Amino acid sequence: MDHEPETCSVCGLDPVVGSPARPSRIVARSPAMRAMLCRARLFADTNAPVVILGESGSGKEVVARALHGSSRRRQAPFIAVNVAAVPTELLESELLGHARGAFTGASTARRGLFEAAHGGTLFLDEIAEMPVAFQAKLLRVLQDGEVRRVGETHSSLVDARIVCATHRDLPGLVERGLFREDLFYRLNVLRLRVPPLRDRPEDVLPLARAFLAAEGRAELVFSPAARKVFARHRWPGNVRELASAVKHGVALARGGVIDLEHLPDELASPSAAPAPRPQGVDLRSLAEVEREHMLRVLEACGGSQVEAARHLGIGRSTLWRKLRE
Ligand SMILES: Nc1ncnc2c1ncn2[C@@H]1O[C@H](COP(=O)(O)OP(=O)(O)O)[C@@H](O)[C@H]1O
Ligand SMILES: [Mg+2]
Repeated sequence: MDHEPETCSVCGLDPVVGSPARPSRIVARSPAMRAMLCRARLFADTNAPVVILGESGSGKEVVARALHGSSRRRQAPFIAVNVAAVPTELLESELLGHARGAFTGASTARRGLFEAAHGGTLFLDEIAEMPVAFQAKLLRVLQDGEVRRVGETHSSLVDARIVCATHRDLPGLVERGLFREDLFYRLNVLRLRVPPLRDRPEDVLPLARAFLAAEGRAELVFSPAARKVFARHRWPGNVRELASAVKHGVALARGGVIDLEHLPDELASPSAAPAPRPQGVDLRSLAEVEREHMLRVLEACGGSQVEAARHLGIGRSTLWRKLRE
């Protein structure tokens, strides 16, 4: 088991992240990841907003926590909100808080997450999923540095450093009118891009060993065949996928070795890999490709046709008609 230094000697970023209850270390052996962390270290001490880009599971939240943990704000709270997980109608009261009696069910006043993050960092995960209507309100808060709880008449000053993350192409969304341009420029001051795991093979085994240690099974080893598969796999789910593969291995291994047969099917037998990309020329009709894309967007929007139509840039009735065809 390799030991990481307390503070990274390369970038000076405090590698201990995670919640206080479950601290964890950032594993970064690859030059790409180290370069990104060096950049993050430079950003830690400013108050400017940071946008973290990268595929799902690549470690965006880990980086956001490290930014906070290495900043002067580290004693104050790090508050993470997954924008995509909060229902649209609750987003405003979640983030800004509400007065007592502001709406049915608001029996007591409640502060929002902006206020909770005062002096610290507010991490807005999946920022691209923020409804356009609320984007205007967020911009207002960022410009004025104050929040007004729902149903309240006065505002209060808040000082929360904003870090956002998305796996989507934000400039592309701005171009298509799905993300406000003014908010984009406000947020997109400093940018970090977390490389996908397949682009940093040097990190795979150290990460896998760190996950073994986290399971309390640091004594287990990976067989040469398992290591070979780790090196060959494309890791569409990135570090998160690797973490579950290791858990899978730990659960099935008998004895001290995690072998191929203990790993999830999609790793152990490449033929079981989900949705292999079509080889050679894709000869599907436009209608087929369109339909598949619409269904994928619909699924990503949790089945909401309104949301899906918005992302697709078509009317809801058009979407409905096309899906019926
Ligand atoms: N460099 C890393 N070192 C240690 N653990 C990591 C690293 N990158 C990701 N993880 C772990 O992988 C999982 C996914 O990371 P997360 O930051 O949630 O990804 P994202 O926010 O990009 O979807 C988490 O459990 C996280 O702790
Ligand atoms: Mg995440």
